[in-house]
Parts: sequence; C-alpha cells; structure tokens
Amino acid sequence: MKFTLKKKKTNTEALGNDSAELKIPEHVAIIMDGNGRWAKKRGLPRVAGHRAGADSVRKIVESCDALGIKFLTLYAFSSENWNRPQKEVNALMDLLEKFLKDKTPEMMEDNVKLRAIGRLDKLPEHVRAELDKAISTTAENTGVTMNLALSYGGREEIVDAAKQLVRKAAAGEITADEVDNEVFSAQMYTADMPDPDLLIRTSGELRLSNFLLWQLSYAEIVITDKLWPDFRHDALVDALREYTKRDRRFGKL
Ligand code: FPP
Repeated sequence: MKFTLKKKKTNTEALGNDSAELKIPEHVAIIMDGNGRWAKKRGLPRVAGHRAGADSVRKIVESCDALGIKFLTLYAFSSENWNRPQKEVNALMDLLEKFLKDKTPEMMEDNVKLRAIGRLDKLPEHVRAELDKAISTTAENTGVTMNLALSYGGREEIVDAAKQLVRKAAAGEITADEVDNEVFSAQMYTADMPDPDLLIRTSGELRLSNFLLWQLSYAEIVITDKLWPDFRHDALVDALREYTKRDRRFGKL
C-alpha cells in the first residue's frame, strides 16, 4: 500500500478530459463522516468502517497530490468524539497510531508533510509519541500538507487564541486596539496555513460540527451523500467540479 499512486500521472490524466476547466483549490478541508453507517450497511462492527475510512484518507492524499492541492485538513477526531463509548475511542486511537506508524515511510517517499491541530495534549501518550515522530520525520517535505484535526474543536481553538491574546495583553505585549482579524488569525492553530477554499462533508449531513469555525468563513461548501469510506478520487473530482461552478465573491459584488 503506497501513497505514491500513480502520481507519476500528470494532472490532466488525473482529472480526465475536462482538466482545463477545473479550478484547483489550494486548501481543502474535509469532515469525514459516515464510517459507522458504512459498517452498519455491511453488518460489520463500527471499527471496520473506521478502518475503511483510513484507506480513504490514504487514497485522498494521493489524489490531492495528483491534482495539485497543497493543503488537506481532515477532521479525524473532534473534541466531542471523546464522549463516544470508550471501546470506540480506544479503537480510533489504536487505528491512528497504526496509521502513523505504517504510513510514515510512505509519506517520506511521497513528500507528504504531516501536521496536526487540536488539543493534542489530550491524546494518549502512545498516540502522541507516534504523532510527534511522524510530524518531525516529515517536517522538511514539500509536497501535500496533510493536516489532521485531532481532539479538535473550533470553539476550543478560538478560546485558546483568546487566552493567548489575554496573556500577551497582560504581559504588555499587545493592546486591545491592536487586535484585528490578522492578529487573531496568527493565534489560531492554522496560523501558517491559508484558509480552506473548499469544505467537503460526506454522508449528507448539513452541519459544521465545530470544525474550523474561524477559518471556514469564506469557504465554499460541498456536501456529498457518499459515506467517507466510499469517498475516493472520482468523488473528489466531482466535488472540484461543483467548486469550479461557484462564483467566489468574498462578500464583494
Ligand atoms: C465519522 O464517522 C468519523 C470519525 C468520527 C472518525 C474519522 C476517522 C477515520 C476516517 C479513520 C482514522 C483516521 C485516520 C487519519 C487514520 P462516524 O463514526 O460518525 O459515522 P456515522 O455518522 O455513520 O456513525
């Protein structure tokens, strides 16, 4: 199993005939939903859905590489997901650890840079250690940035940013009048990344679910009925087709 996919494919091949007409976003964010339903439809335990979901992660990173998408942020574990049954939380953490361990050599081969955002200190020690290792191993890579949102909540991120600013103010490093959008953005976990241009949510739900609340202000949103384990290259290209039709005005005329 390789990230490398046929990346030797040109963009035109990856897109099919209409590549010239497709707009490629710089940053795509995805709410990967529907693993449980995918498993249920097959009479399998939920963890089987998460395992198939991890395969989609691998495939979609390959597709981003082939299509020229630079940043991919994936909602892999929300701050609310800690409230799932302990057995499922443990299974997700074990899967994440295994994914990081198994895929780091492939990320190196494919020039993928791993990042993570969220309250990472809440992750179990064995996952945190593997995550830190994968991030530092891939730090110098210059291809797709795969940014995993883990123990992540959009409100929590905004609260963390506010805390930082209050601390700076208390230390006399900043005044209230100096706080603007740019200063606030610089405190977010994503400070050194562009905001997502496109948000994709799988499995048909019409919610943001506390994902990137600050950064998604002007993102285009594409919802697909496909369940995450069924979301592969062609589904991503379909989402890009939809994105290409949108007229992004950022509030202007
Ligand atoms: C939502 O499906 C998905 C999650 C809560 C976890 C996402 C995890 C993965 C895709 C696999 C592991 C990730 C990596 C990066 C290796 P759900 O369980 O809420 O599905 P349901 O709504 O159908 O029950």
